[in-house]
Amino acid sequence: MQPAVIAPSILSADFARLGEEVDSVLAAGADWVHFDVMDNHYVPNLTIGPMVCEALRRHGVTAPIDVHLMVSPVDRIVSDFAAAGATYVSFHPEATEHVDRTIQLIRESGCRPGIVFNPATPLAWLDYTLGSVDLVLLMSVNPGFGGQKFIPSALEKLSEARRRIDASGREVRLEIDGGVKVDNIGAIARAGADTFVAGSAIFGSKDYAATVAAMRRAIAGG
Ligand code: DX5
Ligand code: ZN
Repeated sequence: MQPAVIAPSILSADFARLGEEVDSVLAAGADWVHFDVMDNHYVPNLTIGPMVCEALRRHGVTAPIDVHLMVSPVDRIVSDFAAAGATYVSFHPEATEHVDRTIQLIRESGCRPGIVFNPATPLAWLDYTLGSVDLVLLMSVNPGFGGQKFIPSALEKLSEARRRIDASGREVRLEIDGGVKVDNIGAIARAGADTFVAGSAIFGSKDYAATVAAMRRAIAGG
């Protein structure tokens, strides 16, 4: 398994001080910036787009930016995120007409493609996509809002996704998103996740470094 990655979701950051918040969380030991894009169409909320991604790069952020698209349609916006400096671009298969075409588009634009599973979306979508994505993201809440409760069935789904990824022999990150906290991240890691999104648990805490360190200890089994 690849080393654990902690990816704070900036959805729970103070948007009025976004550059500073991202600097702080990276200085606190986080690895990636998880960037939630919502369109008030595919999901019932509206957040940030490529201009904000570009602003973070201009601000000096060099860490991977993990763009989680909760938008429909998907394809039109991919090249904008590539130009804005996105590293990973993940999308929900239900939100695009041609899943394989979208994966190819993300790859050709120079980003790493990821496929996202809602809590009720079956892993069967991996049958013909696992050979071409770099990341599999399992949602452990319904997409749209931070601060929701972890849906326990995600643990079993993680184990199944882990089996499939290992059997593929490819280096594919297995990411979990939604309701991840210090007290459940250990069980989530044991179920097979290697990449952990956490929004409210990190940005809602007083000491980002202490929270990130506590998460790493729990992931390591401490
Ligand atoms: C939800 C987003 C998540 C969200 C997670 O649709 O994809 O990334 O910010 O927030 P928490 O960690 O608070 O559940
Ligand atoms: Zn997300």
